[in-house]
Amino acid sequence: MSTRAEAAAATVGLPFGGAEMGAPAGRVDPARARQRKLTEPKRLTSHGPAQVIAMCNQKGGVGKTTSTINLGAALAEHGRKVLLVDLDPQGALSVGLGIPSQGLDRTIYNALMEPSTTLADVRVATGILGLDLVPSNIDLSAAEVQLVSEVAREQTLLRVLAPIRAEYDYVLIDCQPSLGLLTVNALTAAQGVIIPLECEFFSLRGVALLVDTIEKVKERLNPSLEISGILATMYDTRTVHCREVFSRVVEAFGDTVFQTVIARTVRFPETTVAGQPITQWAPTSGGAAAYRDLAKEVLAL
Ligand SMILES: Nc1ncnc2c1ncn2[C@@H]1O[C@H](COP(=O)(O)OP(=O)(O)OP(=O)(O)O)[C@@H](O)[C@H]1O
Ligand SMILES: [Mg+2]
Repeated sequence: MSTRAEAAAATVGLPFGGAEMGAPAGRVDPARARQRKLTEPKRLTSHGPAQVIAMCNQKGGVGKTTSTINLGAALAEHGRKVLLVDLDPQGALSVGLGIPSQGLDRTIYNALMEPSTTLADVRVATGILGLDLVPSNIDLSAAEVQLVSEVAREQTLLRVLAPIRAEYDYVLIDCQPSLGLLTVNALTAAQGVIIPLECEFFSLRGVALLVDTIEKVKERLNPSLEISGILATMYDTRTVHCREVFSRVVEAFGDTVFQTVIARTVRFPETTVAGQPITQWAPTSGGAAAYRDLAKEVLAL
């Protein structure tokens, strides 16, 4: 094993290497070994108030947006009313749902910055029953700077979300790959954090920093914040490397790691082009089944 890997493992406080540690991961698929039967979610008779979950990892390209769209769509399939909030100026969440946001007059930016604009004013319906979206575009990049001079700047999203929470069962916030003020706003507004994690060694280092930030936000701004779960994404069962990283994440975080893992498959980039969740684009695919399983786990929390 490389020194790089050792360093990454050390950041999550783990011993590294040792025959007895590496061997089991090499033989069996550690993700499969953790599979337990999932509970079927109950039907709802009324909606709200929403549980707010931030989809967060400051590392780029780990599956935050993909997981926000597909978990949202899978929760909606279970009859839940879901609001997806795009808190990334790249606007990938909006694009992934087939809603080109660059030309929109009003987005999350307006709701955050203008007292006269509410989230209800800027939300749009997606093509999926029960799934709404608050879009974003490049305008949002100005908010990070403008919010700095606001009173209670970290609570801005919490404040604008408050009136709309009663209408939804879940609000999922797609964060940008940074730990800046917008992400702190997401963590302050949320009760839960889902951390999508690509199974490679450098991911571990990033998670240690993220967990530290979550702890600070919990201590100083939002005592009710908890990590809902760590989600292994782009999981490739054929590589020993991927299986080892997964085993290490489970050793470090135990039951906080979702038993559902999202396999690496080209179907996901295809869904972005199609502007649809995988549950709609390829409803019988393994990817769709995985996000439905994840939804069951989230509903059981
Ligand atoms: N399970 C998967 N298998 C293969 N490709 C995937 C998978 N999940 C996501 N991708 C692809 O990886 C890329 C990055 O995914 P995504 O945009 O969801 O990550 P992100 O964490 O939101 O990125 P950013 O940090 O830039 O916001 C996209 O092209 C997406 O289609
Ligand atoms: Mg993204």
